[in-house]
Amino acid sequence: MKQRTLVLLKPDAVNRRLMGEIIGRFEKKGLKIVAMKMLWMDKKMAEKHYEVHRGKPFYESLIDYITSAPIVAMVLEGDNAITVVRKMMGKTNGQEADIGTIRGDYSMSVQNNLVHGSDSEENAKKEISLFFSDGEIMDYRLVDEVWI
Ligand code: RTP
Ligand code: MG
Repeated sequence: MKQRTLVLLKPDAVNRRLMGEIIGRFEKKGLKIVAMKMLWMDKKMAEKHYEVHRGKPFYESLIDYITSAPIVAMVLEGDNAITVVRKMMGKTNGQEADIGTIRGDYSMSVQNNLVHGSDSEENAKKEISLFFSDGEIMDYRLVDEVWI
């Protein structure tokens, strides 16, 4: 089933110059980038995006982290893209994430874990609309789609 998912390259990914590496993995896997921008999240937007975590012990620190530097937001499209991206990211804690995953290969932290990916179709829809207007999402064909 074709799905869209919201991916964020978090402030540590930008600051550690890992944007290209991470985007490259998604591209090489066969996921299609249908929207992408760099932005600096403000507190209001961060609180909306991480609403489900409000009240948790790590919440304040999470809001400070995600608003501490620019991020890159992307919409990735592909067959079962939500699950595939979550698999590629690995477990939340970089020390526990499997080697071969993005977090497993590049993160040593439970907070500074480089990437965000939507965890359900409902949340993907909500999150995509928080970051992108309909006109910013591109409808196009890649010539290699038949091979993917
Ligand atoms: P994400 O939402 O960013 O894709 O990550 P996730 O599903 O793997 O993790 P989630 O439980 O939704 O937590 C959201 C983000 O909060 C930070 N976090 N810190 N200090 C802590 O115990 C802790 N736990 C989570 C991480 O940045 C995590 O990705
Ligand atoms: Mg999550």
